[in-house]
Amino acid sequence: MQRERIVNLRDEAHIGKDVRVQGWVRTFRNDQFIAVNDGSCLGNLQLVIDREATSDDLKKRLTTGAAISAVGVLEASQGQGQATELRVAELQILGDADPESFPIQMKRHSMEFLREKAHLRFRTSTFGAVFRVRHALNFAVHKFFTDEGFFQMHTPIITGSDAEGAGEMFQVTTLDVANAPKTPEGEVDYSNDFFGKMSNLTVSGQLEAELAAMALGQVYTFGPTFRAENSNTSRHLAEFWMIEPEVAFADLGDNMKLAERCLKSVLRDVLGQCDEDLTFLENRERDTEKQLPQDQRHDVPLRQRLQAVVDAPFIHVTYTEAIDLLQRSKPYKKKKFKYPVEWGVDLQSEHERWLVEKHFNGPVIITDYPASIKAFYMRQNDDGKTVAAMDVLVPGIGEIIGGSQREERLENLKAKCAEFNIPEEHVWWYLDTRRFGSAKHAGFGMGFERLVMYVTGMTNIRDVIPFPRTPQNAEF
Ligand code: 4AD
Ligand code: MG
Repeated sequence: MQRERIVNLRDEAHIGKDVRVQGWVRTFRNDQFIAVNDGSCLGNLQLVIDREATSDDLKKRLTTGAAISAVGVLEASQGQGQATELRVAELQILGDADPESFPIQMKRHSMEFLREKAHLRFRTSTFGAVFRVRHALNFAVHKFFTDEGFFQMHTPIITGSDAEGAGEMFQVTTLDVANAPKTPEGEVDYSNDFFGKMSNLTVSGQLEAELAAMALGQVYTFGPTFRAENSNTSRHLAEFWMIEPEVAFADLGDNMKLAERCLKSVLRDVLGQCDEDLTFLENRERDTEKQLPQDQRHDVPLRQRLQAVVDAPFIHVTYTEAIDLLQRSKPYKKKKFKYPVEWGVDLQSEHERWLVEKHFNGPVIITDYPASIKAFYMRQNDDGKTVAAMDVLVPGIGEIIGGSQREERLENLKAKCAEFNIPEEHVWWYLDTRRFGSAKHAGFGMGFERLVMYVTGMTNIRDVIPFPRTPQNAEF
């Protein structure tokens, strides 16, 4: 008999059917009721076994985590909280889980503990919910861009360039690092390396996406990106996934509208599709926050917060206005900010959080940052000091999207390369798009894990990616 997924067996329409289910035991109580979960949804199916006919040996093996297979008739449930249950005719243990050593028990484990058991944490309700929502978001992103007429580009993962110019790259080499060949000047001779030059894992697919956008009109990348930045925060990973649309003939205003439409569209989709998981995560957040002081708890429940983002227009401020607001803020006057607030200095997360959480209380798009704190490719504004950049900030996360209008004028871009010490022969191909049929264009990057954090209410980015890569940690 074919296996049925539990998600399809929960409504009364299936009552009376003979079915087989397979999953993992969550609980076994009263010698009779097995709650089994097969991952297809948050909810368990209750299996009812015959107390007398089932051997003691079999009952002993019905421990949390054991894999089982059961055949029986689906009946209307007598119990609360479920419409159906399975009256078991045939039960088989597929794989035992010794309760002495199986680490995932039916109690609240700390997130830190579960990170060390990342290979088994999928078995918990929380991680089941997070990864189902992650999947739904992934799909919603592709749907949004497809519906808007974008084409996905698979930009390279190995590259010779540093798009962001921050020098935070992981090198890729087949050289024997202990005995690397040297040039007469004593430097590593990369001409003998696999690619004949120094190469690294990409920090962003943007530069290549721009090339494609200047022909296909509107494209997006959605792939893994790698940053060797040594920031051990709850919002940084060394390996994360990024969505990067790039649109020809678009300016910063178009880019801001696209970012807003994109966020709203994916939120609307998951609110519609993941209600069971989001309800669970909402309750989990409320329970977790009970341990926190009142002023650190959310006033509004998770789903309502997400719905509010869908419903309200995003607020726009320039960097200059944001600095002004910050300098007039209470924490600034009371010297509560750790980092300085002055024109020309990058905003720190404490500043971003004050703006979105205290002042505006919702998503904000900050535009027109000083050129000196942004990447070389951003378009110079007429004031000569700022660039057409935008960051989208959301409560609880801070920056979720960073983007800009791109410098499409060859002479300006060459001057920027010189200023940022980027040799033109390293980016000749990028400059070529400004030589042949250049046009204004714009795009952005949305951190996928930051999006998943935002939607699930999880507070550490390590808990929204299956196997997080962070400094000193590449287990699994
Ligand atoms: O602001 P970033 O560095 O922008 C770029 O990479 C541009 N090339 C994007 C573009 O215009 N096409 O990164 C974009 C987003 C950030 O807003 C953040 O959400 C996420 O990527 N991000 C990270 N997420 C997790 N861990 C990290 N270390 C991240 N660094 C950036
Ligand atoms: Mg950024």
